[in-house]
Amino acid sequence: MNQKGILGIDIGGTGIKGAIVDVKKGVLLTERIRLQTPQPATPKSVAATVEELIDELKYKGPVGVGFPATVRRGVAVSAANIDESWIGTNIEKTLGKKTGLPFFALNDADAAGIATMSFGAGREFAKDGVVVMITIGTGLGGALFVDGELMPNLEIGQIFLKNQKVVAEKFISNKVRKDTDMSWPEFGKKLNKFLSHVDAVLNPDLIILGGGASKNFADYKKFLKTNAEVRAATLANAAGTVGAAVYASKRQ
Ligand code: BGC
Repeated sequence: MNQKGILGIDIGGTGIKGAIVDVKKGVLLTERIRLQTPQPATPKSVAATVEELIDELKYKGPVGVGFPATVRRGVAVSAANIDESWIGTNIEKTLGKKTGLPFFALNDADAAGIATMSFGAGREFAKDGVVVMITIGTGLGGALFVDGELMPNLEIGQIFLKNQKVVAEKFISNKVRKDTDMSWPEFGKKLNKFLSHVDAVLNPDLIILGGGASKNFADYKKFLKTNAEVRAATLANAAGTVGAAVYASKRQ
């Protein structure tokens, strides 16, 4: 075990990823382990996978966990991409009881945003400015920062776009792209509809794209026509893990 670091875990719709993180530098101290999210992703099955991940890393200490739903005071309040039985479940207590370690839980996009504002593409707006981070994965996650302060649980993927019958994350996400074999230009055009709306409503200085689809930013960048500058998250997929560990280090 690496005493210097704190374990950050990112629970996603398809994978549960974890690594020990140097929270001062925002870098991983171990390789990032990825286990399949069990299906159905109930509190019991997810807790067992989290325990497996901790055993593999031989870690003891506080754990930060990014969770793919609204999280209020450690409790899951929504469940768009995880089993519904999580609603009303205390994530921190459930995982803590299974593993014997103290857990600190927050929304997964908020975790990615914290890392990005401290160590990544949002650094220059960390003290002054409005930044929206959007994670494009199985769902669409959102994190809003005003002068570096996080407004938690921005459920940006749950908004409706004009003339659409489904919420934004069912209209465009990395999952929608893969499921429909969408080309990157098509993806860019659909993403632009969503981002233009977010831009008009929140009027941020900067929009940062994270999650799986941010790796291909160069393939669809030219279709994005927002007033706010759009950047890809430099920490890419590690942001959620790093941010969760940073969050735990502040709350422990
Ligand atoms: C959830 C969000 C989450 C996002 C990314 C959405 O389905 O509603 O809470 O941040 O997926 O995982």
